[in-house]
Amino acid sequence: MDQYVVEGGKRLEGKINIHGAKNAVLPILAASLLSEESVIHNCPMLTDVNAAMNILEYLGCSTHQEESTIVVTSHPHGDYKIPDTLMSEMRSSIVFLGAVVSRYGKAVVSMPGGCELGPRPIDMHLSSLRKLGVEINENHGYLDCSAKNGLHGASIHLPFPSVGATENIMLTAVLAKGETIIYNAAREPEIVDLAAFLQSCGAKIHFGKDGTVFIKGVKRLHGCEHDVIPDRIAGATYLCAAAAAGGDIIIQNVCPDHMAAVIPVFEEVGCSMDIAHDAIHLQSKGRLHPIKMVRTMPYPGFSTDAQSPVMSMAAIADGTSVFVENIFESRYKHVGELARMGADIKVEGRVAVVEGVEKLHSAQVRCTDLRGGAALVVAALAAEGTSEINEIKHILRGYEDFAENLSSLGAGIRLRSADS
Ligand code: EPZ
Repeated sequence: MDQYVVEGGKRLEGKINIHGAKNAVLPILAASLLSEESVIHNCPMLTDVNAAMNILEYLGCSTHQEESTIVVTSHPHGDYKIPDTLMSEMRSSIVFLGAVVSRYGKAVVSMPGGCELGPRPIDMHLSSLRKLGVEINENHGYLDCSAKNGLHGASIHLPFPSVGATENIMLTAVLAKGETIIYNAAREPEIVDLAAFLQSCGAKIHFGKDGTVFIKGVKRLHGCEHDVIPDRIAGATYLCAAAAAGGDIIIQNVCPDHMAAVIPVFEEVGCSMDIAHDAIHLQSKGRLHPIKMVRTMPYPGFSTDAQSPVMSMAAIADGTSVFVENIFESRYKHVGELARMGADIKVEGRVAVVEGVEKLHSAQVRCTDLRGGAALVVAALAAEGTSEINEIKHILRGYEDFAENLSSLGAGIRLRSADS
């Protein structure tokens, strides 16, 4: 299997451009099934994006990627059944459910498996779609969905502001008859970007002030051209790398407003930050200080996706940092691997207590999930010696040119292919 070989201890200096947001482009690709021709710019080149394009092709669309622009043309006829092979390639493919039901009035998809973050229930997705007129039969691991009497608007109260459920409701409601109101909807920037794409296609969506979303169904959607927002998690990950290894970097093509919850953490550990309207300059010198408390919360709170890279930074701080993971059941799988590098972290349920150590040492480690894998690279860049990071397929799902970007900043990282 391919691996990264990381020689730690080198300062990071220079500028990098941050790619478009994975968690925005995936639901936007699902939404493109409902329009005619969509031209989507600033798309990252990721394995998850390829998986989404494969699903679109299977559903009867044609897709074409030229650098960071993807063109999706959806044709009148296509399939409404997504095979298990395609569904299981990407955990978040459940977001296609709403779009397929909207488009064909029916859908057959396999239940998404659990993933490295624990069981990934979709109860809110299913109960919401049933309210919009979708009949769903769950059997033998498949969801057999149909809207025999058409889709109609509904008032939906989400018990938790689920990102995926909010996206599936939007994609089902935009062509439904009547108005849908989503109370306690997720408000992540990626949701707003999905709504912006749909509005450009003619959908009638607007956001209330308290996380309520109002959607008026329309008869059809036309094509559009759209620029995907920057990836706030990729941006935060590179800042963690420079903070942990020491350095002076500028991340460009970012939206600092989307990173407002994570920027104070870099100041707390002792980095100096200059914030421009589309770039962030971080300088890190000397030993990092600990972080009193990181509580992951729905947006605009601290993102669960930034938890593991920030923990790698805290692992070498001069004191104790406390993390509380409130979003996913088991999102500490990277802790065991960090411990192999000498990190001192105790996990009790949702709480992780990180006792900073002077130095991490190199080790052979294994990526357990996308963000946990990126966290291992952050730790290896700061560690003494040369580490080997295995199972990097997880990282390739969400970071475009990860090793290339880091080495352009002076990091000692290179890809060692299995067949080399
Ligand atoms: C999206 O996942 C993101 N993925 C995740 O990013 C992100 O961590 C998460 O939102 C939270 O921000 C994509 O956008 C592709 P949720 P999603 O529905 O939609 C529970 C990454 O690293 N839940 O907000 O799955 C669920 O189990 C990935 O880029 C139910 O119980 O997140 C979880 O504990 C990882 N029932 C919590 O809610 C449901 O019906 C949040 O899930 C739905 C969710």
